[in-house]
Amino acid sequence: MTTPVVDFLNRYSESDYIRLHMPGHKGRSTDDFFRYDITEIDGADNLFDPKGIILESMKNASELFSSHTYYSCEGSSLCIRAMIYLAMLEYKRIHNEESYILAFRNVHKSFVSAIALLGIDVEWITSDVPNYLSCPISPDELEKYLKIKEKKPAAVYVTSPDYLGNILDIKGLADVCHREGTMLLVDNAHGAYLKFLKNSLHPIDLGADICCDSAHKTLDALTGTAYLHVSDNCSEFIFNSVFRALALFASTSPSYMLIRSLDALNAHLSNNYPLELQLLEDKINKIKEELSLHGYRLLGNEPLKITIDAGDYGYSGTEFYSLLMKNKIICEYYDKQYIVIMISVSNTYKETEHLLKILLSIKKEPSLVNNPPAFSLPVASIKPFDAIRSMTEEVKVSKKIIGSVAGDIIFNCPPAVPIVICGEIIDYNIYSALKYYGYKTCNIIKNPDKLD
Ligand SMILES: Cc1ncc(COP(=O)(O)O)c(C=O)c1O
Repeated sequence: MTTPVVDFLNRYSESDYIRLHMPGHKGRSTDDFFRYDITEIDGADNLFDPKGIILESMKNASELFSSHTYYSCEGSSLCIRAMIYLAMLEYKRIHNEESYILAFRNVHKSFVSAIALLGIDVEWITSDVPNYLSCPISPDELEKYLKIKEKKPAAVYVTSPDYLGNILDIKGLADVCHREGTMLLVDNAHGAYLKFLKNSLHPIDLGADICCDSAHKTLDALTGTAYLHVSDNCSEFIFNSVFRALALFASTSPSYMLIRSLDALNAHLSNNYPLELQLLEDKINKIKEELSLHGYRLLGNEPLKITIDAGDYGYSGTEFYSLLMKNKIICEYYDKQYIVIMISVSNTYKETEHLLKILLSIKKEPSLVNNPPAFSLPVASIKPFDAIRSMTEEVKVSKKIIGSVAGDIIFNCPPAVPIVICGEIIDYNIYSALKYYGYKTCNIIKNPDKLD
């Protein structure tokens, strides 16, 4: 596979042109990689109106992902805003009126900022699992929910894989959405690699209409790189609007270092990556088997994540994290109950062996239960669009905040999943969840009754 951006930047950085353009470092710094950091000079193309090397590179990525693939230098966060916007525009084009988004509640913060910025109505759908991080709703449950809706949502929005490593039945959910006349949008930030499994589990292959993947979360790409994938099912109108949607929210100075990273990644993905992934998947399956036999309770069905119920094994997540850290292992996430470990093909065999050895050396203790307070969906008092334009005040988290209206975009449990979002009323359960997650202070809306 060609790497046109890498080649252009190599040629330019090795040339003797005098750089009388942005950025100010002129490619010179103590760090050698600054030489690849350029602006949109002739030949370097334009991320949101590509006609040259970036277009060629995106076409390569599209071929790899069997979709229409667009680059983001601002993570999945940018792609999420763009896909919500596209779904709303599409509904308006077809029905000549606006609609709402039906979202599984365990969204990432960037979804909430998208609906707040765009003034979009959202209807939440929740499950009865005892944590805020997962929302395992089946296609049948979704179908029952959608069937009775007189007005269909512009899109159903789901997060899969979630932070704990649960993958939803995307094929089933997509079929239901299409039967019920709506689109399926998937936050696949944690699942770029799913495309390269022996049997792809990538949302686009399973019928999703639009999805985003953070390249940097699971592939060897720089932080900030992501893909927006649009499936063949989408209309000409959506294809013609994608760059407009991305440019609406994006910086006008995309990083060539990040574009270069995505370009270089294409070469790896088209060569050794699938085989490396298969070997790694086998290795992780063996690790999971050994851990289960040893008495660990593991969660989730995502191939490259190992989620351990540390409480069940007799430790708080925090204690368990420290034990791993003492043994030179830093894992992705911990809360009071769970530990999430993310492994990629860039980890060495020695590292995964070390992980297994350390996990097996930790003694099982009587179970602790640190489960967060029961999930509850707060009642909305004002729309997020109004809430972000309201004055807020910082207050201590005490029982006195019960009945107040949340002012921060979200109050989240650690990986940016909402307990409560701006404009919703803090009830007793929410107060308890804030205490559980260690909130000392929070912002509430000042004088919410006085809003227009
Ligand atoms: C589920 C999920 N969606 C979206 C995002 C945002 O991705 P990015 O950091 O690439 O903008 C994250 C980031 O942690 C995430 O966990």
